[in-house]
Amino acid sequence: MPIEPRERLIVALDLSSVEAAQAMVARLGEAVSFYKIGYQLAFAGGLAYVPALADAGKRVFLDLKLHDIGNTVEQGVKSAARLGASFLTVHGYPQTMRAAVAAREGKLRVLAVTVLTSFDDNDLKVAGYRTTVAELVAARAAQARDLGVDGVVCSPEEASPVRSIVGGALALVTPGIRPVGAAAGDQKRIATPAAAIAAGADYLVVGRPIIAAADPKAAAQAIVADIAKAKT
Ligand code: C5P
Repeated sequence: MPIEPRERLIVALDLSSVEAAQAMVARLGEAVSFYKIGYQLAFAGGLAYVPALADAGKRVFLDLKLHDIGNTVEQGVKSAARLGASFLTVHGYPQTMRAAVAAREGKLRVLAVTVLTSFDDNDLKVAGYRTTVAELVAARAAQARDLGVDGVVCSPEEASPVRSIVGGALALVTPGIRPVGAAAGDQKRIATPAAAIAAGADYLVVGRPIIAAADPKAAAQAIVADIAKAKT
């Protein structure tokens, strides 16, 4: 089933209070149907905002990147499902992915983070790994597929190789999106919305290019228009 261009945009509510998040959601209105809540908002009351967003017909992506012993992950995943979240991230370790998949319920889908995009080969070496980033991303994407994980978070650069490993059934979610002419900020591996979709992404996570724009709604609509132009 093709996904509508508007449904592919996930806006990162990287804001410091629920009041600021509510104001942003109100400004964006019908232009945006999917929101991501990460550490910043989650630890500032944002978890309590999830049911309200879900009741308002929005989908919610809880980007909490869980990683703990199996039982703790299972119980956390169950609580996230009851909040009304649609996506939840876990780190792509086999034990963690297995526990999350076993515990998911209702509409909650589990996404695996393969390797954080801030890591390069040397960071992995310093952390005690004996693989390159590309090798570890490929291995974890294959494990995610084999363990029944619903999707993978990856950079736009990795979207095409990851897609060929996981096939069509898993959702690929890519941050690092910058509209033509936008500031890169601290993102290094970036792509335009159309390029990320053409590389195989299903959903795009966009933060600052929308929430820090003078007109966030116009910025969101321009991104959806670019998504609509992409060749899939
Ligand atoms: O503001 P910007 O568009 O760079 O926001 C990107 C969002 O995606 C942030 O919430 C960030 O935490 C998240 N993210 C990322 N890179 C990853 C995973 C998540 O930038 N590898």
